[in-house]
Amino acid sequence: MSGILSSSLARKFAMAISALFLMVFLLQHFVINLTSIFPNNGSTFNGISHFMGTNPLIQYLIQPILIFGVVFHFVMGFVLEIKNKKAQGVKYYKNNGAANSTWMSRNMIYSGLFILIFIIIHFVDFWFPEINTKFIQGDWTGTHKGIEGYRYYHELQEKFSELWRVLLYIIGFVFLSLHLLHGFSSAFQSMGANNKYTKSMKTFGKLYAIIIPVGFVIIALFHYFNS
Ligand code: HEM
Repeated sequence: MSGILSSSLARKFAMAISALFLMVFLLQHFVINLTSIFPNNGSTFNGISHFMGTNPLIQYLIQPILIFGVVFHFVMGFVLEIKNKKAQGVKYYKNNGAANSTWMSRNMIYSGLFILIFIIIHFVDFWFPEINTKFIQGDWTGTHKGIEGYRYYHELQEKFSELWRVLLYIIGFVFLSLHLLHGFSSAFQSMGANNKYTKSMKTFGKLYAIIIPVGFVIIALFHYFNS
C-alpha cells in the first residue's frame, strides 16, 4: 500500500479515526430511531426523518462522507487483517490466544463481517428505497399514497412487522455489541491516548457497546409488537 497509509501505525490510526466517526454516527442514528418509540405515533420521528432526508447539507455533504466512512472502515479492516496474518509468520510475533488477548479482540474480523452482512440487508431494507424515491423518482415530499402525513414511521413499522427480519437484526445488534466492546478501547489505544482519563474512557466504551445495541433491540421489538 502506497502513500500516506504505507506505515502500520498510520493504517491503525486511520482505522481508529473512521471507527470513532462511525460511533458518532451510530449515536445520532440511535437517538433519532429512539424517537420512533415515543408515545406520539411517530410524529417526532417523522419530523426529524423528513428534515434529515431533505436537508441539502446532510444529503449532499454529510451522507456521502458517511458512506465513504463505512466503506473505508470495512476495506481497511480487511487490509489490517491480511497484514496481521502475514505478521504471524514473523518470529517476533507473539499471540498466545486466550493467554494474552480476549475472544472479542481476536475475532474482530468475524464480528465485522457479520455487521457488513447486516449493513447490506439494512441498506436493501431502508437506504436503497430512500435513494430510489428521492434521487431516481425525484419524490422529495416524504409522503406516500394511502398514508396520512409523512411515510417514514409507517415504513419502519411495516419492515419490523416480520419476525425473521427482527431476529436477523437482533443477531446483527449482538455482533455489533461484541465488535464495539473491543473496538472502542482499541481505537483509543491506536490513537495513542494514554492518560488519566484512559480508565474512564474504557468504562464509557463498555457502556456504549452495551447500551446502544440493547437500545436498538428494544426499538426493533417495540415495532414488531406494535405493528
Ligand atoms: C432498530 C435499529 C435500526 C433502525 C430502525 C434503523 C433505521 C434506518 C433507516 C430508516 C434508515 C434510512 C435513513 C434514510 O436515509 O432516510 C437507515 C439508514 C442507515 N442505517 Fe440504520 N437503523 C437501525 C440500526 C442500524 C445499525 C445498528 C447500523 C450500523 C451498524 C445502521 C446503519 C445505517 C446506515 C449506515 C444508514 C445509511 C445512512 C443514513 O441514511 O443515515 N443502522 N437506518
